This record gives sequence, C-alpha cells and structure tokens, in this order.
Amino acid sequence: GKVLRVALLGCGVVGTQVARLLAEQADDLAVRTGARLELAGIAVRRLAHARPGVDQALLTTDAMALATRPDVDVVIEVIGGIEPARSLILAAMEHGKSVVTANKALLAEHGEQVHAASRAFGADLYYEAAVAGAIPILRPMRESLAGDTVHRVLGIVNGTTNFILDRMDGSGADFGDSLEEAQALGYAEADPTADVEAFDAAAKAAILAGLAFHTRVTAADVYREGITEVTAADIASAKTLGRTVKLLAICERSGDGVAVRVHPAMIPRSHPLAAVGGAYNAVFVEAQSAGRLMFYGAGAGGTPTAAAVLGDVVAVARNRLAGTRGPELSTYAELPVRPMGDT
Ligand code: HSE
Repeated sequence: GKVLRVALLGCGVVGTQVARLLAEQADDLAVRTGARLELAGIAVRRLAHARPGVDQALLTTDAMALATRPDVDVVIEVIGGIEPARSLILAAMEHGKSVVTANKALLAEHGEQVHAASRAFGADLYYEAAVAGAIPILRPMRESLAGDTVHRVLGIVNGTTNFILDRMDGSGADFGDSLEEAQALGYAEADPTADVEAFDAAAKAAILAGLAFHTRVTAADVYREGITEVTAADIASAKTLGRTVKLLAICERSGDGVAVRVHPAMIPRSHPLAAVGGAYNAVFVEAQSAGRLMFYGAGAGGTPTAAAVLGDVVAVARNRLAGTRGPELSTYAELPVRPMGDT
C-alpha cells in the first residue's frame, strides 16, 4: 500500500503525544487517509533528554536536514516561537512538503509570509492546533462558515488566565494566590508573562480575526490588556451586577473595517461564555445566517493539542493522495484593522 513519510520537528509536551498517537493509531489513520503514515524522524534540541515511549533511533538534532529530506512528505512543526520554526517551515514548503504547525506566534506575526510561501510552492499549510488547542475552530472559520458573514467572534482562548479568573470568582482569592495555584497545577509557566499579559491570547485573536473576516491581522494590530490588574474587589463588584470577569478576545466588524482586542471584560452570568470554567477555552461566533455558535473544549495540553495536529495531518495526507491542496487563502479583502474600533 501507499506510505506517506512524516517528519516531526519538536518533541516537547505536544510532540511527544503526536509521536505516540501516530504509532498507536497507525492502523486507523491508514484506513482514514488511504496511506500508512510513517514517522521518518524527530528533530530535537538535545538527544539526551528523556522521552518515554519515543523511539530513540528516530531522533536527530539536524531539523533542517530532516525537514527537507527527499523521502519526507509531511512536516509537523511543534517547536514554537519564530526561529528556527519559520526557516524550517519555509524550507519544507520550498521542498514540496505539506506543513502542519501549532505555531500561533509565527502565524500571528508572519502569517502573510508563511501563506505566501504556501501559495508560491503549492504546499499545504494547516494549523488548527495554533488556536484553542483541541477545539476545531479554524477549519470551521475557513471552510464551514466561508459562505456566511461573521460579525463578531468572542473567545476565551487562554486557559491559564481563565483558570485564574475562575478561581478568583469562585473563592474570592486574589490574583497572586490564584496565579500560584495555576503554576502549582502546571497550567501557568514559571514565567507567566505570555499568558497573564495576554500576548498568547492576542496572537490567537489575530489568527481568528484574519480567518473570520478574510483579511490580514497581525499581533501588532491587536489592542492588548492582561489580567494582572484585576483585583478581588473587581470580581466582587462584577458579582453584585450579576456578571463575571473573563479575559476575552474580541474580533468584530467595525464600520468598513475590523477591530481586534483582548482585555478583561465583565460579561453577564447568563452568557454562554460565563459558564466556561477552569482552564477550558471557548469561542463564540455571531454570524449573519448561522446565528450564534459556540465551540468549547480543552485549549491546551499535550494530548488534546496533538489531536488537533493529527486531524490536520490526516487532512494534508488526503489532499496529497488526491493531488490537491487545502483551501486557498490568497483572496483577502483588505479591510482596515482598527484595534479599538471606530477611531
Ligand atoms: N498557555 C496557553 C494557555 C496554552 O494557557 O491557554 C497554549 O496556547
């Protein structure tokens, strides 16, 4: 039968689970795609690092050689950050590989360049795992809702900050104690800046807005305010108003343009997003014909995020076997982007 060779770049929390699931689900994936997906190699920074369940013989520290190897069909990038991820993805596409990535920072900052390369080289580019982990939201935006007009997207797209705000709301705890609890449970990183200052959510908001409104939005276009200034008193006063505080990514049409922002917002307790507790994520979409939709689930974690990566791997594998590619994203409406709306 047919075989597609897969290169895995990065073997951290997500990469380890991608490698495991590729092996464990090999038979099912072969049935679903029409080809066996064979792991050709795994690029890591250090060979010595312990990776339980990962075949040591597949490891290499030469990511560029692996990403461009002639026998590789599909490249999965789960290293994160701008470099070397960007150079690896661009080189892989130039060498005719289909690319699956979970890299929100890269897509939010250099999405235009990466999409341009995908067009220029006729290479597939899928990145469902870049926003809200396991939740299928990007494919619905770019495919299922492509015949509708999206007016607004409201997202809880950062699990760490949702956990912290949920703790503050539930127990009256202050920000510092809730952050410590999030760190103890492994949600927040030792340096929590990207989460609590909303850089992570702003990158995801840029990607969501670009797909929702068929335009180009970068992280720099997004107004951003984190949750470090939210006090126990703020949460208590929201409560007396029948509201709760959530860190929201808000993407909306504004005049003839688009406005994108991330900040703490008081929302009525009756709103579906108010029920999103713990470290969960949700994306609420308001569209012309479809009406109100909500997508809910695990926004992070190795196995849930790996599920989104594998869904993309199946998609690019099917496209490759059919001699086609995913939806073209070259036809953008160039809508003006105004971070704060009508100004
Ligand atoms: N640190 C992110 C969060 C997960 O807390 O949601 C990865 O995007």
